[in-house]
Amino acid sequence: MKKIVQINEKIKRFNKRIHIPGDKSLSIRFVLMASQAIGKSVAYNLLYSEDVLSALNVIGKLGINFNIKRNYCEIYGKGLDGFSFKDNTTINAGNSGTLARLIFGLLLNTKKSVILKGDESLSKRDFSRVIKPMKNFGQNIKSKKNKLPINIKGTNYPRPINYFEAKGSAQVKSCILFAALKTAGEIKIKCIPSRNHTEKLFEYLKLPIKIKKGKNLEIISYKGIKNFKGFKYKIPGDISSSSFFIVLTLLSKNSKILIKNINVNKTRTGIIDILKIMNAKIQLKNKRVYKGENIADIFVESSKKLNPINCPVEMNSRVIDEFLLIFLVCAVKSKGVSKFKKIGELRNKETDRLKFADKLLKKIGIKTKITKDSFTIYGNPNLNLKKKYEIKEFDKDHRACMVSFIAALSLGGNWIIHDVDSIKTSFPNFISLLKNLGAKIN
Ligand code: S3P
Repeated sequence: MKKIVQINEKIKRFNKRIHIPGDKSLSIRFVLMASQAIGKSVAYNLLYSEDVLSALNVIGKLGINFNIKRNYCEIYGKGLDGFSFKDNTTINAGNSGTLARLIFGLLLNTKKSVILKGDESLSKRDFSRVIKPMKNFGQNIKSKKNKLPINIKGTNYPRPINYFEAKGSAQVKSCILFAALKTAGEIKIKCIPSRNHTEKLFEYLKLPIKIKKGKNLEIISYKGIKNFKGFKYKIPGDISSSSFFIVLTLLSKNSKILIKNINVNKTRTGIIDILKIMNAKIQLKNKRVYKGENIADIFVESSKKLNPINCPVEMNSRVIDEFLLIFLVCAVKSKGVSKFKKIGELRNKETDRLKFADKLLKKIGIKTKITKDSFTIYGNPNLNLKKKYEIKEFDKDHRACMVSFIAALSLGGNWIIHDVDSIKTSFPNFISLLKNLGAKIN
């Protein structure tokens, strides 16, 4: 893939039906859970992106065999105590925060130590959010300022913990649940609701998880050590990847798109709800349930003007990876002021996404106000871009890169986008799908 691309033309009207690759969160969870099962597990439509390949490499280094085929991937788990590796084995999570956080849970009781490292961007991120609960479990962790590389050694006597997870982070919750698999007593997590794929996988595998749902808080408990057998899973399409196409369609003239077989789990569909509140035309068709996950086809039509939004704070964790796209829609499709509060978590992603959004919108002539954890956008649906726009310095954040493509293809002007290879972490065929819709990308 080229590192720098140029886009000098808006995309022409399109009316297409597309397939999006497998969900990244579910693909990583499948790989990690399958590594703990007894016997062979098989995933169809596993996302073969760099983050998921890193997950496969990590379990490989920890002694688990796998087979990557074009249409499916097999993993040969050896049960909850099945990792086998030499002392001081280095595992590399690449760019994946999800993999790096979740793997702590699975290393709760390993006898040998592991050095966890990652790429330059992951090495700047803070791991205190998982180090704290894992130390409570009794895991031995050594790090400099909670950053990678981190040395992890298990404990022989995991302590069941009670933990309050206040960030709405699915990574933290899932890390604790993975550790709970290996803990004899009962663990309890009180948490702000966030994506619940781990819980749904546990339920599907008949593992003893209990969930008490409140409006803004949930209590999840898990008791005991229970082995489980290898399983088969067909990974549905990724809603976060689909969102680039949902927004491209909304922002383009006279266009329509049908996106097939997408995971529309309620904890992930904040973008659809927000865009609908703003008056966008989006429908879920052919709804069904697969192994506890909701699946549907998403149908979207272009919009003329949309309404601005005062985004309800409870939405934040349901739209955490789609904020950049929502900001773009508010900026260029709605007349009036849109407000987002308590979104400081965006500063802790692959890059500081709040800062990136602010710079991007200001570059195209949109007025914004930014604070430590809030963002206000003064939308202008009458933008007509003619200048040159260069996008670089985003710490190779795949989503920052892809949102720049959507802006370039829908707003006009001459764009140069750097570090395009970052897209491979989550959505390797993003550019070829855009080209199939008629996008001119050089
Ligand atoms: C993810 C959780 C979210 C999300 C990330 C994937 C997951 O992170 O931003 O892309 O698969 O659990 P947080 O847990 O930090 O909110």
